Order: sequence, then structure tokens, then C-alpha cells
Amino acid sequence: MIAPLLSARGVAMRFGRVAAVRDATLSIAPGESIGIVGESGSGKSTLARILAGLQPPSQGEVLFRGQPVYAGSIAYPGPLRRQVQMVFQDPYGSLNPRMTALAAVAEACRFHERCSAAEANIRSLDLLARMGIGPDDARKKPRLLSGGQRQRASVARALSASPALLIADEPTSAIDQSAQAQLLNLFHGLLGQGLSIILISHDLAVIRYLARRVHVMRDGEIVETGDTADVFDHPQHPYTQALIASIPGRRPKENRP
Ligand SMILES: Nc1ncnc2c1ncn2[C@@H]1O[C@H](COP(=O)(O)OP(=O)(O)O)[C@@H](O)[C@H]1O
Ligand SMILES: [Mg+2]
Repeated sequence: MIAPLLSARGVAMRFGRVAAVRDATLSIAPGESIGIVGESGSGKSTLARILAGLQPPSQGEVLFRGQPVYAGSIAYPGPLRRQVQMVFQDPYGSLNPRMTALAAVAEACRFHERCSAAEANIRSLDLLARMGIGPDDARKKPRLLSGGQRQRASVARALSASPALLIADEPTSAIDQSAQAQLLNLFHGLLGQGLSIILISHDLAVIRYLARRVHVMRDGEIVETGDTADVFDHPQHPYTQALIASIPGRRPKENRP
């Protein structure tokens, strides 16, 4: 078995009386893509933030390349830091409204790669172009870009760190259908280049397209895990069955004995 890139064991998170995440265990191999699905409030974003190093869990352990992510008060110490990057549903979470897309990506480039300003500009223009954002749009502030462009710019910013793992929390839910397709194609291409992706979505079609394995969350708990096609075609847990049945025009295939 290949050593996992990231693994979480018995992770739990409480906010006062709310158990946002309970006893979550999962792992992702290098170059793999996994999905996390579940309705709103099921704990997906909390788990994502814990995996990304943004929120120490109340209990449990997260390992990245076999090393604890939370070592004392610092998450992802030293060179591990840049290897895990997060993309949020709202790209304003990672793009400064007062900075052009180019400046935002170049800033991350200089921070992570310690390159000169000129070098950062060239690399950032290249990265943005790969995300489908040309030099003119690259020099616009986020509010002058379309939702899809903003989201792709925030992916470019995340990629400027040359991460091994991208954690994307509902990246397609705030953008229109054609922008969604464009972003999904991008992710697909990145997977082909060896990036690992943890994709959080309540859109099962998105998960099906990109994630080889899926974890279904309900009330903070992972209730079902498996190969995406198996889980979606033959859901075992009643919650997963209900989730799939709730999609218009989609029914799980008959479970044969
Ligand atoms: N910072 C927080 N403080 C208090 N409660 C929170 C906080 N973040 C999330 N929660 C609660 O934890 C539960 C899970 O939320 P969340 O992880 O955002 O779920 P999802 O992303 O699946 O919608 C919800 O009940 C939410 O209200
Ligand atoms: Mg969420």
C-alpha cells in the first residue's frame, strides 16, 4: 500500500454543545481525489479547515506525510505549510478586493517561492493564463472579474505554492454552469498532473466527475465511505440513499442481491 499523503484519525470538533465533527477517519493517497458530501451543517467545512491546518481539532490526529499537522500551536510546521492549500466557496476568502488578481497571485508566489517581484509577475501571469485568465483580466480587481474568473484566480493563488494537496470547499457552488464546467476541467487536468484533491460539495455530479472515493457526512459523522461509483449506484446507508434520491431525475441503480 502507498503511504497516505494525509490521514486523519478519530478527529472531532466541538463548538460549545455542537459536535460539528465526530470521530472522522479518512486518508488520501498521493495523486488521489476524494470527495466529501453531505447536506448543509453536516460538518464538511469544519473537517476541511481541520485538514487544511486552519483549525486544531478538539480530538484526534491529522498526519501529513506521516508527520503531525498540529505540532504544538503551529499547524503544518516548516516546509509542510505550502504543500496543502485551500480554495473556498467564496473566492473573496482568498482574494484581497483591493488587489488585482495578478498582484494576489504574485504575492503568494513571492511568499512561498521567495522569488523576485519580476519573477513572481511572470510566473503569476503564466499560472493565471493556465487558469484561462489572460493578461488584461489578470490586471483587474476581483469585483471586475466574473465569479468563475475569481474562483479560477483563487485556484491560481493556491497553486502558486506548488502544493501537493488542494482542499476545495464548495468551489463551484457560487458560479454559473459554464464556469463550473471550466473549473471542473481544470481540476481534472491538475489531477492528471499528480495533484491530490479533497473536494467538498453537495453536488453529487461534481463529486462523481472528480472523486475516486467519497465520504458521506451526516451530523458530523462519516456514515458511508467507498468508491464513488459504488456508493452512488449502490448506497448502503439510508442517509446516502435519501441524498441520492433527492436529486431530480436521478435514482440509485437497483441493489441486486
Ligand atoms: N466557528 C463555529 N462556531 C460555532 N459553531 C460552528 C462554527 N463552525 C461551524 N459550526 C457549526 O458546526 C456545524 C457544522 O458546520 P459546517 O462545518 O460549516 O458544516 P457544512 O460545511 O457541512 O455546512 C453546524 O452546526 C455549524 O453551525
Ligand atoms: Mg460548508
